[in-house]
Amino acid sequence: MINLFESQLLGGTVLLKNRIVMAPMTRTRTSEGDIPNELMATYYGQRASAGLIVAEATDVAPSSNGYALTPGIYTPAQRQGWRLVTDEVHRKGGTIFLQLWHVGRMAHPSLMPNGEAPWGVTAERAESQVFAHGPDGKLGHIPAGTPRRLRTEEVMRLVDTFSNDSAHAREAGFDGVEIHGANGYLFEQFMNSVLNTRTDCYGGASVENRTRFLLEVVEAAVRELGPGRVGVRLSPFGRFNGIPADPLTEETLLYVAGQLVRLGVAYLHLVYELMPEANMEVAEFKSHHLDHALLAKVRAVFPGTIIWCGGFTDRQGAEEALDTGLVDLIAFGRPYIANPDLAERLKYDWPLAEADRSTYYTRCGEVGYTDFPAYSGQ
Ligand SMILES: Cc1cc2nc3c(=O)[nH]c(=O)nc-3n(C[C@H](O)[C@H](O)[C@H](O)COP(=O)(O)O)c2cc1C
Repeated sequence: MINLFESQLLGGTVLLKNRIVMAPMTRTRTSEGDIPNELMATYYGQRASAGLIVAEATDVAPSSNGYALTPGIYTPAQRQGWRLVTDEVHRKGGTIFLQLWHVGRMAHPSLMPNGEAPWGVTAERAESQVFAHGPDGKLGHIPAGTPRRLRTEEVMRLVDTFSNDSAHAREAGFDGVEIHGANGYLFEQFMNSVLNTRTDCYGGASVENRTRFLLEVVEAAVRELGPGRVGVRLSPFGRFNGIPADPLTEETLLYVAGQLVRLGVAYLHLVYELMPEANMEVAEFKSHHLDHALLAKVRAVFPGTIIWCGGFTDRQGAEEALDTGLVDLIAFGRPYIANPDLAERLKYDWPLAEADRSTYYTRCGEVGYTDFPAYSGQ
């Protein structure tokens, strides 16, 4: 059996101390100005025994803000804030990548600069909710706004934005970046052949066109950071954030996976069919779905490191997945919320604590965030 606690060389560059990944999780605990803070440094530092931490989705520009209080990386103050986090994780011997996103249509004018419409692949609104201040001034889940269709040159400019922010992530001390191509945000909006009805060079008629935006961003980020420092997250068949079912999902996935090898990425991070279709504080997560046949096809075109995420809760399940030979690292999301020492708990088969879902997002600062103790045998 493959040992979850073996070290692993990521992308030929970064040595991980085990095969455990802390999955990116938005926790909306920033300070004013979307600035990471000491509290976040404590939270990530507590979890540094993971082989790799992928820090939460982070805005590359003011226009990418789809949830109140998510961090950014585009201002010097945000980078200083992130430096607290990366220093703390490194001090504790951890490795940390930053997840970069643009939410696209998953936003609301109240979150956008000057109250403008969210940016969309088209002008079609997502049948989904964003986390923002409602008309009563309280934070909560409200319907996504109606987007405006991005012009071709704006998409091209976004490629430069991601490239600059990859450099900003390095400046803030991250070991690499993960491009968030999953969960119904802007990259997936472009890749979805049903939603992307554009007719320009980023238009959905051909797989080359609908994946062009993601691949241009990855290429630019690798140019900035070097090979082995850029990962990509995808959620094929996911329906989170109102993303429509797409008959061409498999074609798109295999095409992207093949291209990512050529571009020299550190890893491909896959999450399948797990996220709830509505807001994740209340909706049901679906059951674990490991499609061996599809993963084998991905493996055939992508011989690099594959991270598998979704529904793992113990060492045995993780090692069984590794034993298929189809994936190399196992990511844990929700189990990391209440178990800062998850790696140790998995190793010694200690029981896992449960988080209260009402603390997933902010409202409560350290409550449900940094106040979970390491296992003490009690
Ligand atoms: C509170 C919360 C916030 C999340 N935020 C992100 C995010 O910022 N980026 C992302 O790619 N996935 C995000 N996810 C999805 C997780 O990374 C993961 O894919 C999902 O929870 C399934 O894994 P699990 O079964 O181990 O929890 C989030 C999940 C939760 C519960």
